[in-house]
Amino acid sequence: MHKEYEEHKEHCLVFEEVVYRYPDTVLPALQGLSVAIPKGYRTAVLGHNGSGKSTMFLQAVGILRPQSGEVIRAGAELSYAKKDLADLRRSVGLVFQDPEQQLILNTPLEDVSFGLRNAGMDEQTIKQRCHEVLEQLDLTSFSDKPIHQLSLGQKKRTALAGVMAMKPELLLLDEPTSYLDPLSETLLLEGLETIYQQGTTIVMATHDMNLAYRWADWVIVLEAGRCFAAGTPADIFAEREALQAIGLELPLLADLWQSLPPRLTAGQTAPRNAGDFKDMLSLLLKEDMS
Ligand SMILES: Nc1ncnc2c1ncn2[C@@H]1O[C@H](COP(=O)(O)OP(=O)(O)OP(=O)(O)O)[C@@H](O)[C@H]1O
Ligand SMILES: [Mg+2]
Repeated sequence: MHKEYEEHKEHCLVFEEVVYRYPDTVLPALQGLSVAIPKGYRTAVLGHNGSGKSTMFLQAVGILRPQSGEVIRAGAELSYAKKDLADLRRSVGLVFQDPEQQLILNTPLEDVSFGLRNAGMDEQTIKQRCHEVLEQLDLTSFSDKPIHQLSLGQKKRTALAGVMAMKPELLLLDEPTSYLDPLSETLLLEGLETIYQQGTTIVMATHDMNLAYRWADWVIVLEAGRCFAAGTPADIFAEREALQAIGLELPLLADLWQSLPPRLTAGQTAPRNAGDFKDMLSLLLKEDMS
């Protein structure tokens, strides 16, 4: 099912045959990963536990370095010199799967402003960006509360706020919606949409197939440290058996759509959210009965 990425797309980052084995482990976590992240897209990275999603993200910001193969950005292999890594991390932001790994200061306000100050922003801009992003993620009322007293969802949102405030060119989010309640998830997606519209490419690793289906316009599927498939959600989720073979479920709406009689769905674009699905269904049933 491996679909090559489309050559006409511009890419933020390209992984070429990347192999990486953690110390004291037998099997490599990445076993020749070749995949590209298209610029200007919302990309979902899917794959079951241990398929290599987090390891791929750690390679993208140079925290880990390939033992063979390359990570390529703007036509050149990443440089792992200290200064170049600092530059890289100003334009590529990573929100870790575990917020405890990310949060270093005492309060959300201090944590978010620390990153901005490090990037050399003036105090007025720092103040404004902090206010904006804390408001966006509904953290204003906790902005001065010690981080160790926050709930896991609040910590997760603080880690997201710190990276979103930097407005990186490429934002990598490792399971950003785990532990978030539905309202926080909506706020996060709205916040992401704002920075996406301002030009940030967004990549999200997630186990939530329904979210990937309605949010992404490009999907990368990892399996055993390799790219199993990359393509549009429509192409990827049309391959029910292939996905099931690697333990992934179809998103509910894709499953329902594919269970409708082909005479109803032929030639139609599958709706990707519940509202569009209902509208399309009532239209199709009306036509079918007339
Ligand atoms: N620090 C580490 N030391 C040793 N092995 C590791 C380490 N981190 C990850 N691995 C191994 O590397 C492989 C890939 O792990 P990775 O965390 O990239 O997967 P993932 O797709 O992000 O999984 P999940 O969905 O659970 O987050 C797994 O087999 C895992 O056990
Ligand atoms: Mg992971």
